[in-house]
Amino acid sequence: MKVHGVETRTIGVADDGFTVEVIDQTRLPFEFTTVALKTVDDAARAIREMQVRGAPLIGVTAAYGLCLQARLDPSDAGLDAAYADLIATRPTAVNLRWALDRMLLKLRPVPISERVDAAYAAAAELAEEDVATCRAIGDHGLPLIAAAESFARDRGRDVIGLLTHCNAGWLATVDWGTALAPVYRAQDEGLPIHVWVDETRPRNQGASLTAWELAQHGVPHTVIADNTGGHLMQKGLVDLCITGSDRTAANGDVCNKIGTYLKALAAYDNGIPFYVALPCSTIDWEIADGCAEIPIEERDGQEMSRVAGMDESGKVTRVQVVASESAVANYAFDVTPARLVTSLITECGVFSTSVSGMRELYAARTREE
Ligand code: MRU
Repeated sequence: MKVHGVETRTIGVADDGFTVEVIDQTRLPFEFTTVALKTVDDAARAIREMQVRGAPLIGVTAAYGLCLQARLDPSDAGLDAAYADLIATRPTAVNLRWALDRMLLKLRPVPISERVDAAYAAAAELAEEDVATCRAIGDHGLPLIAAAESFARDRGRDVIGLLTHCNAGWLATVDWGTALAPVYRAQDEGLPIHVWVDETRPRNQGASLTAWELAQHGVPHTVIADNTGGHLMQKGLVDLCITGSDRTAANGDVCNKIGTYLKALAAYDNGIPFYVALPCSTIDWEIADGCAEIPIEERDGQEMSRVAGMDESGKVTRVQVVASESAVANYAFDVTPARLVTSLITECGVFSTSVSGMRELYAARTREE
């Protein structure tokens, strides 16, 4: 996607052929800057501290982390140690494990002297695949947005109102995004859309990332406080919701950024379709019951009690918004039961979260492999 009119991706290899460059997402929307990753520790830190975030991008960054390790120690033991460090960075996003497993599967049979080149080739392949996957999610999601035009007309509007939560845009992937890929396709097709962007406390990925990237692409949008979505739905201002997912279980339960569940409940109560856009690599077929089994990351309470922003002098700073005496809890994700999810939009097509729908999705994804 474009930044200041220039085609940009979230991750790439620098001209020296080995340094990995990523957009530092902790500085957005105030500063667009990249950070250089030279070691596996750099890659692990970037994921842990959320300079890169979003399930698909975490996976690709971890893959490049293994490349950086291979330069220093391409032995099995060296790669295994890097795998252990990387997989411990974020427990919920399953693309991390998926990408790391895929890298090791490719690298193990390769002679040690050839592993560096093989690793960079495998990571680049993963990145390209992510772009193609997200583009396909956009293609499959576009008709669902187009269909919502008639809902908007029934509600007396000629602009389609769409609500999204957190950031499942191109910043969460290598390019295009998951939930926002259909939005960008709709905008490019000239469909009249307006996106309601949940701010997404505690880290505000909606306010600082989704709004920023929608603005870069010229998509009309409005940022709302997290508690606003239900009210907008009651007032007939939302025709469909699309979110991403960090891990979806075999039964169609969707784990996504904290607060997604409440939006799905409100959408259900108001008869509004609630779609989840995700690559098949986000589906954890080993988990039968998402609500019971998906591990939920708990992060540092300071993300709750402190808020980052720009002060009136233009300085980016963090301020405390909770009394020091108060305890805070910082659950990063929640799980939306399958019954509240209208359909999953994947690179293989659109599938219901019913038992038969999930079976069809499993078969479709197996055919593609
Ligand atoms: O904690 P984050 O920012 O890595 O969370 C990921 C997200 O932005 C979302 O939950 C997103 O909807 C799924 S990733 C495409």
